[in-house]
Amino acid sequence: MRQALVKEPRMGASILRLFFHDCFVNGCDASVLLDDTPTFTGEKNALPNQNSARGFDVIDTIKSNVEAACSGTVSCADILALAARTSVFLLGGPSWIVPLGRMDAKIASQNAANTNLPPPFANLSTLISSFAAQGLNARDMTALSGAHTIGQARCTTFRDHIYNDTNIDPSFATLRKSTCPGPASGTGDDNLAPIDILSPNRFDNAYFQDLVNRRGLFHSDQELFNGGSQDRLVRLYSLNFAAFAIDFANAMVKMGNISPLTGSSGEIRKNCRIIN
Ligand code: HEM
Repeated sequence: MRQALVKEPRMGASILRLFFHDCFVNGCDASVLLDDTPTFTGEKNALPNQNSARGFDVIDTIKSNVEAACSGTVSCADILALAARTSVFLLGGPSWIVPLGRMDAKIASQNAANTNLPPPFANLSTLISSFAAQGLNARDMTALSGAHTIGQARCTTFRDHIYNDTNIDPSFATLRKSTCPGPASGTGDDNLAPIDILSPNRFDNAYFQDLVNRRGLFHSDQELFNGGSQDRLVRLYSLNFAAFAIDFANAMVKMGNISPLTGSSGEIRKNCRIIN
C-alpha cells in the first residue's frame, strides 16, 4: 500500500471503498474482486461499481507477493480488509486490529450489489436502513461516511445536488458547477472532483467540517447534517478528530465482520479475480 500511495495517493480511497463494496454484498468475502466471464456475472459491472470501482490491480500485486511468500494461506477477503486499514493509517487516520480468517466466495451477486449499496441520492432514512440491514447502527453509518474525507467522485454522482438542492453553500455549488456541466450539456459525466474540498488526500475530520458548512458533495452526504438525527454527531466529529477516529475504527471492525465465510464454505483463491 505504501508503494501504491506513493504512485497515487487516491489509491487509498479506492481500496477503502472496495472493502465497503465487498462487505455490503453478502459479507466480506472478496466477491467484488471476481471478474465477469462469458458464463459468470460478477459485481464489477453493477451500477455502483461500473466505471467507478478501482484498485483491483493493487490487490493483485499484494496477492501475488503474499502467494510467493506463503502460498494458499491468506484469503483475498483478508487482504482487502488489511489493505483498507493500512490505507487509512498511511493517509493520517487511525489504525485498528483486523480480525482475520475470512474465506473467499465462490459466487458473486450483481443483483445484491445493485440493491445493497446506497446511492448518492439517498435520504437519511434510506441511509440508516441500508446500514441497519447489515447490522450497523446510525452512529456506525455516520462514522463510516467519514471515509469520504478522502477520494474523488464523478460529476454524474453529484450533479443533481449542485444544480437542484438548496441546502448547499452557493459558492461551493458554483465552484463545482465550473467543472461539472449541467444536465442539458450532456457532457462531463466522468469529470472528477474531490469529495472533501479541504484535504482530499488526508484522512482527517475535514469531511464533517464540510458538512457543517453545507459543502457536502453528494446529496447523501449533506443528509447527515440537514436538521436530522445525525446533526449532533456530525458537529461532534467536526470539532473532535479523536472522537471520529475511535468511532470509525470500531465501525470498520464491525463492517469487516459482516457475514464472514469460514471453514469449507469458502476457499482461498489463488488469483483474486477468479475462483480456483
Ligand atoms: C453512506 C452511504 C454512501 C454512499 C451513498 C456513497 C456513495 C459514493 C459515491 C457515489 C462515490 C463516488 C463514486 C464515483 O464517482 O465513481 C463514493 C466514493 C467513495 N466512497 Fe462512498 N458512499 C457511501 C459510504 C461509504 C463508506 C461506508 C465508505 C467506506 C468506509 C465509502 C468510501 C468511499 C471512498 C473512499 C470514495 C472515494 C473513492 C475513490 O476516490 O476512488 N463510502 N461513495
